[in-house]
Amino acid sequence: MSSNLLLGTHGSAATTTSSSATCSEDSMAAVGARAGRAPDTPLPPRARPRTEGGGAATRRRDRLQRAAPSVRAWKRGQRLAVAVRALRERGCGSEEQMAAVLREIEAEVQRRKQLVHQSAERKAIISQCYKRKHSEVYTLQDSFLAPDFLDMVRYCISPDANLHGLLRYTESFSDKRIYRLPVFTEEFCQAFIEELENFEQSDMPRGRPNSMNNYGVLLNELGMDENFITPLREKYLRPITALLYPDLGGACLDSHKAFVVKYSLHEDLDLSSHYDNAEVTLNVSLGKDFTEGNLYFGDFRQDPSPVPNYIEVEHVRTQGLLHRGGQIHGALPIASGERWNLIIWMRSSAIRNQLCPMCNQKPQLVEAEGFGDGFTETCQEDVPETVDLCSVW
Ligand SMILES: [Fe+2]
Repeated sequence: MSSNLLLGTHGSAATTTSSSATCSEDSMAAVGARAGRAPDTPLPPRARPRTEGGGAATRRRDRLQRAAPSVRAWKRGQRLAVAVRALRERGCGSEEQMAAVLREIEAEVQRRKQLVHQSAERKAIISQCYKRKHSEVYTLQDSFLAPDFLDMVRYCISPDANLHGLLRYTESFSDKRIYRLPVFTEEFCQAFIEELENFEQSDMPRGRPNSMNNYGVLLNELGMDENFITPLREKYLRPITALLYPDLGGACLDSHKAFVVKYSLHEDLDLSSHYDNAEVTLNVSLGKDFTEGNLYFGDFRQDPSPVPNYIEVEHVRTQGLLHRGGQIHGALPIASGERWNLIIWMRSSAIRNQLCPMCNQKPQLVEAEGFGDGFTETCQEDVPETVDLCSVW
């Protein structure tokens, strides 16, 4: 567990730096909350991504590199102090206990740093060696999308669109701002799962989708970000989220992390309670056939009630659930069958630049590749094209 802050490119077609570069969805609740901002040595600045070059960007990179050693030392000391204080407050009494916990934290930091490089290596291997079964599913087409979903998008981009009108197209659940909507066609879901199974059965390397799910596929590593997930977010989902979640940057969701998770009787059965590293999450049921396994939603993490109020929501094949990333949620165990869900964590740099949603602090930044964790940095002379990343791992 650590606090890492990365910096990458904004709006780039490049892929994210992998799950290892993100605030893990479980770790905040389980460990980060216990340890506060744990010690860390931030990642060194990386090479400037290809989409950004010359001029102001180069000058900014040079400044970052010159400043890096002293900044890193300061940050590490600060974070160690915060971690030690948090551990003492939580009953970590003896020096031996403290040293053991801090060693564990440092080891986890190093492990997660390696994940970033491992993800880039996997993506390169997959790009070169993987033989696709359904190459058409890598480029988003209107024909993949449910007609009712297309109607909804058309309404949202019409001049008089408003929230009240949009709600006619969705099913909403209680006052938690959770909405069910049609997303894909049956035919697309079937082809997509066949592609994912083809990948699963291949000898390609693969990483865990996130720190809570053990089975599934990171879609950036598979090569689906550029021509599928990014246009889905920008062209179709953002007009909807602009009306549903204006306070969470719904109109300016400018990056994402997308993955598919798989549940089956011999693998993961369920998903325990957590919140996501996202302003808005879309969770689409792709199938296959399964029983039970409803999703459940509790309070918004920043607005807990004395007695948590949970609701259960059925997950219907081809349909998606939109919810705030900070809404506490989980998945009940399936009783039979196999379940695949497409998850898109959508992020708004305008929102998270103010406060990291995982550590509730102003983010500190280190350069990274791709979307990273969706933070951006603006310098005086430029240029809104860099993305800063904050991680509590
Ligand atoms: Fe989640």
